[in-house]
Amino acid sequence: MKAVQILGEVSSPEVFSNWSMEKPIPEGSQILIHVHAAGITGDEIIWPEPYASPTRIPGHEISGVISEFGPDYNGPFTVGQEVFAFLDAERGQGQAEYAICLPNEVALKPKSISHAEAASLPIPLLTAREALTDHARIQSGMKVLITGASGAVGVMAVQLVASMDGMHVVALASAKNYEMVKDLGAHEVLDYNSSGWEREVQEVDVVFDTVGGDVLAKVWECVKDDGVIVTVGDPAPTWAFGGGQAAESVDHPKVRYEHFIVSPNAEWLEDGREKIDAGSLRKLSVQTFPFGQAKEAWAHARSRGRKDKVVIVFED
Ligand SMILES: NC(=O)c1ccc[n+]([C@@H]2O[C@H](COP(=O)([O-])OP(=O)(O)OC[C@H]3O[C@@H](n4cnc5c(N)ncnc54)[C@H](OP(=O)(O)O)[C@@H]3O)[C@@H](O)[C@H]2O)c1
Repeated sequence: MKAVQILGEVSSPEVFSNWSMEKPIPEGSQILIHVHAAGITGDEIIWPEPYASPTRIPGHEISGVISEFGPDYNGPFTVGQEVFAFLDAERGQGQAEYAICLPNEVALKPKSISHAEAASLPIPLLTAREALTDHARIQSGMKVLITGASGAVGVMAVQLVASMDGMHVVALASAKNYEMVKDLGAHEVLDYNSSGWEREVQEVDVVFDTVGGDVLAKVWECVKDDGVIVTVGDPAPTWAFGGGQAAESVDHPKVRYEHFIVSPNAEWLEDGREKIDAGSLRKLSVQTFPFGQAKEAWAHARSRGRKDKVVIVFED
């Protein structure tokens, strides 16, 4: 089968299109998906999974058709159904013509969008949902700052927060994306290139940061004394994964702060499918690359200032 591989080390990765890899066989209750399209989150290239897997196949988000089940599968799906899926962070290997999924990773694909568009959604949708629901625990009436608001995760987060009652959504984005982010429901948009943006928004209940680094350092100035900061920006902060305390917490001792790795959740994918098909959640705009141009696709996905999420297409 066709599969993308990331060879080399994390410090010097090389992306290849391999046309002759072994097709996986589903075991237990696994589901084999014939992948039509697979999304790329550019920073995945610094995630450890592709380097740890023997196949070196990256990728956690796919859209395609159910091809086969493991012998113990007894769930509701049938062969031939169109589905989209998030493959667990530790397993991945979605950027291939065939990918193995577990039942809790798969949901029916939104009917109103293409496979390429559906493949762009699982990571942004689940990351935004998990950040806001499980980690930030947002409630009606809160003031929420979302950084990287024009990015894939940010676009989903802005929409999910804005759809709740009485929320005040502040988005951090570049000036060229103001209109787009406002159109998604943001009430205020701040330009990350203007100096002192962090002083223009104060007393925020929740920060959802999708950028990290300097931006994450600055949001401590915006959050309420007893507010919450949730971050997924890569590289992860030094305090993530049990790395001790954030330096800023000394001056903000009551602020709760969390970093997490997104988990599979078929129910939330299903909820996303319903919202997309009902028109209450907007899809991401995508730029597709054919499988043979995986290297170019990854290079583009890693560039700044993109308008679209990058997707590799395996089947037209
Ligand atoms: N921990 C997890 O489970 C998890 C899950 C999903 C994603 N992530 C991470 O979350 C981040 C966002 O993912 P994504 O898919 O939304 O990426 P994306 O589509 O590339 O969006 C990134 C956004 O951040 C902005 N940005 C980048 N660098 C910035 C900087 N220095 N200052 C201000 N804004 C900056 C970009 O703005 P421009 O358009 O101006 O470049 C863009 O709007 C990535 O690092 C990704 O690896 C982690």
